[in-house]
Amino acid sequence: MKAAQLLSCIPEIDTFKHYGKVKRVIGLLIESQGPDSSVGDVCFIHVDNKKTNKTILAEVAGFRDGNVILMPYTNIQDISPGSLVEATGRPMQIKAGLALLGKAIDSLGNPLDLTPLPSGLKSIPIDRTPPNPLKRPPIREPIELGVRAIDSLLTVGMGQRIGIFAGSGVGKSTLLGMIARNTNADLNVIALIGERGREVKEFIEHNLGPEGLKKSIVVVATSDQPALMRIKGAYTATAIAEYFRDRGLNVMFMMDSVTRVAMAQREVGLATGEPPATKGYTPSVFAMLPKLLERTGTNEFGTITGIYTVLVDGDDMNEPIADTVRGILDGHFVLDRDLANKGQYPAINILKSVSRLMGQLADEAHKKAAGKIRDQLSTYLNSEDLINIGAYKPGASKEIDEAIERYPKIISFIKQSTEQKWSIEESIQALIKLAETGDWV
Ligand SMILES: Nc1ncnc2c1ncn2[C@@H]1O[C@H](COP(=O)(O)OP(=O)(O)OP(=O)(O)O)[C@@H](O)[C@H]1O
Ligand SMILES: [Mg+2]
Repeated sequence: MKAAQLLSCIPEIDTFKHYGKVKRVIGLLIESQGPDSSVGDVCFIHVDNKKTNKTILAEVAGFRDGNVILMPYTNIQDISPGSLVEATGRPMQIKAGLALLGKAIDSLGNPLDLTPLPSGLKSIPIDRTPPNPLKRPPIREPIELGVRAIDSLLTVGMGQRIGIFAGSGVGKSTLLGMIARNTNADLNVIALIGERGREVKEFIEHNLGPEGLKKSIVVVATSDQPALMRIKGAYTATAIAEYFRDRGLNVMFMMDSVTRVAMAQREVGLATGEPPATKGYTPSVFAMLPKLLERTGTNEFGTITGIYTVLVDGDDMNEPIADTVRGILDGHFVLDRDLANKGQYPAINILKSVSRLMGQLADEAHKKAAGKIRDQLSTYLNSEDLINIGAYKPGASKEIDEAIERYPKIISFIKQSTEQKWSIEESIQALIKLAETGDWV
């Protein structure tokens, strides 16, 4: 920075530190008298008693009767009446940059392996408004996810946002790992929110593997962390993806799971006195979701293709979070437990899944082939019960006969082992061949 620039900063510097004092703690909330601050500002609470001497990070959540209501990022065990509260005067920031590639960090941007942060990073705020809708270029180009069934039958565009709807243990993490390794995006930003600690290690070492980790930044907030940390994990990961988009890159962004972020926001909402609405979710949950999910997608510089996993109990796609998220995103892929039980992985239920942009991304031959395979799949599944009990007489319907003949090949086309990587061109060619000849290899 030049001397003149430095000098011009002086009048703007706040030479006072603003302090307040803790008055009381109620559950998750801390009430303090002062300091001067606004909603969303970060404060340090200095715990300075005989046992410890540390600072606790907290955020201004609101005000009550002239007092400041703070929500802590970490455990608040040692706070006592009179503990000093120092205002920083700004919202949460983290450091981002290419040097984070290959690393796993927490919601505050610190490496999980406790190594120091690499140099050359830039400070960025974690909360931003979504791009101006008029400045978002339309999505015209497909992105390669490297999964045959998706690239051919559910083509995704660069900058499109889709949801993966699935129950527990149906193969979400495995599919995300596969996409992260196979995609032709420039890099991956992966938010793991509300998972158990064991699952995080398994995802990084097993699903992502060294090859996937090399081109990924993983943001982790496990289920044992305070609700605010879990929410901020989602914001931090989104902000890192935005940082790279602003530098012209095509980013693959994954959040596993957005349901857990919503649950964390519900915890905060209930603690701050919001009324519970549908299924105990508070109004702030439904205000947060579109704000958070709209931040990915395209802007005038680059793209963020977003993949958000949504937990659905049983097949209840009308659960409030699933319903809200499905309404915001441009597509939903359903992973089906019945298919997983049969060993059909990835367990994508093609007929229940939609990529809303496929119509404008695929050419005529591709769309025609995809339509034909969908028709044959649905013809077979509609008559499956009859076929299985032997009530269907071959020859009764030409369509059903053809569907029965082709069904095994269609299933073998959808199935893909985790080590296989298919380019999008190969997948589309194989789909067209399957539709025309009944075989794809
Ligand atoms: N593509 C696949 N090929 C073979 N097996 C698979 C595949 N995907 C998932 N599985 C099996 O399903 C199990 C659960 O998969 P995974 O951990 O990916 O599911 P999940 O939906 O992320 O689960 P959770 O809800 O616990 O996070 C795996 O341990 C594996 O046995
Ligand atoms: Mg998982």
